[in-house]
Amino acid sequence: MTKQTDSRMWGGRFQEPTDAFVEAFTASINFDKRLALVDIQGSRAHAKMLSKIGVLTAQELQDIESGLSTIEQEIVNHQFIWSVKLEDVHMNIEARLTQLIGNAGKKLHTGRSRNDQIATDIRLYLREQIKHCQQRMRDFQNGLLDLASSHSDTIMPGFTHLQVAQPITFGHHLLAWFEMIERDHDRLSDCARRINILPLGSAALAGTSYPLDRQFTAELLEFSAPSRNSLDAVSDRDFAIEFCAAAAICMTHLSRMAEEMVIWSSAQFNFIVLPDRYCTGSSIMPQKKNPDVPELVRGKTGRVNGHLICLLTLMKSQTLAYNKDNQEDKEPIFDTLDTLLGSLRAFADMVPNIKVNKDAMYQSARQGFATATDLADYLVKKGLAFRDAHEVVGTAVAFGIQHGKDLSECSLQELQQFDARIEQDVFDVLTLEGSVNARNITGGTAPEQVRFQIQQCRALIS
Ligand code: ARG
Repeated sequence: MTKQTDSRMWGGRFQEPTDAFVEAFTASINFDKRLALVDIQGSRAHAKMLSKIGVLTAQELQDIESGLSTIEQEIVNHQFIWSVKLEDVHMNIEARLTQLIGNAGKKLHTGRSRNDQIATDIRLYLREQIKHCQQRMRDFQNGLLDLASSHSDTIMPGFTHLQVAQPITFGHHLLAWFEMIERDHDRLSDCARRINILPLGSAALAGTSYPLDRQFTAELLEFSAPSRNSLDAVSDRDFAIEFCAAAAICMTHLSRMAEEMVIWSSAQFNFIVLPDRYCTGSSIMPQKKNPDVPELVRGKTGRVNGHLICLLTLMKSQTLAYNKDNQEDKEPIFDTLDTLLGSLRAFADMVPNIKVNKDAMYQSARQGFATATDLADYLVKKGLAFRDAHEVVGTAVAFGIQHGKDLSECSLQELQQFDARIEQDVFDVLTLEGSVNARNITGGTAPEQVRFQIQQCRALIS
């Protein structure tokens, strides 16, 4: 191979061709072609800026713009031929551009390096994809609010340690899920703010001797500002770590919801019925209906947590500025995105369509002495100190366990043996309805509160 015909864009100083295995091993095209459209978006802005400062003529800019449009069409129509020999998305596109428009194509890379180019591409891409994630979060939240509205009065047992604790409303439980997703949404907004800084113009690491108008490029690409430090700009991947961290927390939330749905849909609980279309059967046990979608989301949380650790480890101890290690950031980012988007979509579709077995929830709340705290509070109102009331009710519960009945099923006489202050009105607080209605406080489980909270949540996301 003579120097003139070397297909490698950086081949000038090399005396022998790259080993075929090394060529494939170092190439990123198989995964970074996903950035092709944002790469073109970045190139368009860079070219416009180069023409503004006189590095490109108007004609050259026009040629580059039309060449890039042709390439964009080829990519969208799956006609573009990607080559491993050209290593990555940047060089594949640049080579095709030169093939299409000749000399002007070779000028596009003036004052630019793949180092600031890739950092810009990932930021452009993530910025866009975060919007999709946030939209899916909103879809899910709207579904949660719809379901919560139908169940502001539905009583279920609230658990701590997965032991019956106090009665709550199902609407209230769903609003807790809403809050988790709300924080996830907020975390992504925060992450997007730091993503929105433009690395382009940092070139390889030190900036460039061309008088680039970085502010202009930033405005064209709708970044809030160009980066302040070129070394940092080409090497920083904090934003990718932050995105994966936010995604890992969100997936952790989804896994908790998934676990609850798996438990609730079991025959032993029977609180909910998942839509058939989100479940599968067993090849051997004809009676089975397995909660596959919640289980899978629960399982997929592991891979997203893994991607976060992967990126942290990738960046650990890296010297400034760009290192080839950074090429390894893409697959974790992409898989995190796909997993998060898919999981949110599945939940947004499935959760509003679950069937709620109100009766089973109610009967379950009647077991486990869920209103014991209410009896203690009742005694406090009659003049007992809370710690003493706690003791009295503990004895009453022991009696209930011994005789196999709930506190509300004991007679007045039976209850009075624990404290003479107990009167007929005790049964108002021992019922499940009395218990939830009593918790009519900001953030509490009372149906009236739940209805109010739903309104607040709707306003928050509209
Ligand atoms: N494919 C590379 C990456 O993903 C692009 C930047 C390459 N720069 C370099 N000097 N090798 O990070």
